Amino acid sequence: MKIGILGAGKIGPKLAQDALTIPGVSIGAVGSRSLERAEKMALELGADQAFGSYESLLEEADVDLIYVATPHTSHAELTIAGLDRGIPVLCEKAFAMNFAEAEKMVKKARENQVFLMEAMWSRFMPSLLKAKEWLDNGFIGDLCHIKADFGFRPNYDPNSRLFDLKKGGGSLLDIGLYPVFLALFLSGKPESIDAQAILGKTGVDEELSMLFKYADHLASLQSSFRSVTPCKAQIIGSEGTINIHSRWHHSKKITLSYNDDRPDLIWESDAPWTGYRYEVLHVKECLETGKKESPLWSLDNSLEFMQTLDRIREKINLNYS
Ligand SMILES: NC(=O)c1ccc[n+]([C@@H]2O[C@H](COP(=O)([O-])OP(=O)(O)OC[C@H]3O[C@@H](n4cnc5c(N)ncnc54)[C@H](OP(=O)(O)O)[C@@H]3O)[C@@H](O)[C@H]2O)c1
Repeated sequence: MKIGILGAGKIGPKLAQDALTIPGVSIGAVGSRSLERAEKMALELGADQAFGSYESLLEEADVDLIYVATPHTSHAELTIAGLDRGIPVLCEKAFAMNFAEAEKMVKKARENQVFLMEAMWSRFMPSLLKAKEWLDNGFIGDLCHIKADFGFRPNYDPNSRLFDLKKGGGSLLDIGLYPVFLALFLSGKPESIDAQAILGKTGVDEELSMLFKYADHLASLQSSFRSVTPCKAQIIGSEGTINIHSRWHHSKKITLSYNDDRPDLIWESDAPWTGYRYEVLHVKECLETGKKESPLWSLDNSLEFMQTLDRIREKINLNYS
């Protein structure tokens, strides 16, 4: 599987390093708004081709998959451009700026019968799959509460994608979506959502707290650009708690602590990769078996995810314009 990366930024090479550990996967091309940057990254990743525009990569590259690794604002346009040329697409999260954009992307993929998946890599992390298995098998009794946080302090640059409102800045679309993902992954769509945010100078959410209510349990979720949070997740049940160790969204260790004196149950991985490998492996399997969307992180999952993010933004009066 030859991957064509759009955007010579931070995430492209990270995913590529993990992807290159998979037999049969290579980086076919890098596309950048600057030929110099494309050539530099192509050299680093052993890519065959470098292009000085996204358009030229889409038109000319010999690739089996486009990986959209640009800021959120361009995801819809570049994804649709790839799908229109019949090329399968893996699009970074946040999948789109809003539900309406996501709907257009999904519609295009389904109409054109071309594979599309949101790069929600945590969905494929063995640690999270194990935690869900323990929960589903009743190891912690009845689910009472899900807690998850993700906070770091990025350098303040009002023009960067993290702080510029027009670029979808703020913690929600960058990192807050991970705790939201966990709640959706474990419990599905919440009955109701509450959220509060502290907006910064540029109007983006810099501190965000979300509370999801389900029929018989709650989820308390936090993201922050103001504080370095523990980046841990807890799945709390009536008989014990599953702790997903830091950083929980690509954790290599989970521990189940029982309320009684049973010894802890521990699951650990010594895999050398960051964790992007799992989603790329899944995409490869999907393409090899002719799937048009992932059975594990479907386009309906992405739509529901995007809709939930919109609902949160409504609660905190956050508009990207
Ligand atoms: N899955 C993960 O773990 C993870 C981690 C980080 C980020 N992400 C997601 O991946 C996407 C890219 O994140 P990143 O951290 O790699 O971002 P970044 O380094 O700021 O930008 C990535 C690249 O996008 C291109 N680009 C296109 N239009 C741009 C514009 N108007 N302004 C700035 N750059 C533009 C640039 O490449 P050229 O100049 O070469 O064209 C830039 O280097 C985001 O949607 C982010 O949420 C995912």
